[in-house]
Amino acid sequence: MIEVKDLSKRYEGRTVLDGISAAFGPGEVVALVGPSGGGKSTLLRCLNGLEPFDEGSVRVGGDVLGPGAARARGEQVWNIRRRVGFVFQQWHLFAHRTALGNVMEAPVYVKGLGRREAREQGRALLAKVGLSHREDAYPSELSGGEQQRVAIARALAMEPEALLLDEPTSALDPERVGELVDLLARLRADGLTLVVVTHEMRFARELASRMLVLHGGRIIEEGPPARVLDSPRHERTRAFLGLDRAAGLSPSRS
Ligand SMILES: Nc1ncnc2c1ncn2[C@@H]1O[C@H](COP(=O)(O)OP(=O)(O)O)[C@@H](O)[C@H]1O
Ligand SMILES: [Mg+2]
Repeated sequence: MIEVKDLSKRYEGRTVLDGISAAFGPGEVVALVGPSGGGKSTLLRCLNGLEPFDEGSVRVGGDVLGPGAARARGEQVWNIRRRVGFVFQQWHLFAHRTALGNVMEAPVYVKGLGRREAREQGRALLAKVGLSHREDAYPSELSGGEQQRVAIARALAMEPEALLLDEPTSALDPERVGELVDLLARLRADGLTLVVVTHEMRFARELASRMLVLHGGRIIEEGPPARVLDSPRHERTRAFLGLDRAAGLSPSRS
């Protein structure tokens, strides 16, 4: 469970997150949507201590993160990062390590797990994301979708309670999106909390149980995706969905 309370963040005096409060429960998939620049990526990074903030708090279980620089918050940031995994838009895999090596890295070097145990765990995780046959491949030999699944397996290797994904469909071919939905649905069934930033409304509709619309650093609307997408209450949500339509990213109406 992640609980965010009155979280605010400024860049050079400009407010980019403005009093965000939200809770993300186990087995819940929340889609964070909204216009570009609304603060989605910044909020995601604040949720696992990658980004310091100015006011408010982030609580994950018994660990609480307050305002201030990461260095000053050292141990708390560390604890929260272990509990909340992050899958970056560009994956950031280690280029000189195989798929299995990437997944083993953190358990061995951060957790101090023995190599044999880490290898076993890594193999199981690669199987879970459907990549058993690619264990020995280097990132440059993997497709974008495969690299993303290695990044997900690598995040899972720290046994997090929650996984944060920033625009996971942005670098995928459209026909690969369904596979990602299936994989994330399996993780949700395991009880993981998933918070997913996306601009693909069909993806959000299929996957998420709740949708938060972020605009100007505030949550302007929230609810089940079907409700938000089919009958948005806030005029800015309507405008945002309308803009999507103009850009050819029409939310599915089926
Ligand atoms: N490192 C940074 N320095 C200054 N401003 C930033 C930085 N990162 C993001 N911003 C600003 O914060 C606002 C929110 O950005 P972001 O969280 O990336 O939005 P989104 O992911 O919704 O597109 C934007 O106005 C952006 O320009
Ligand atoms: Mg973003």
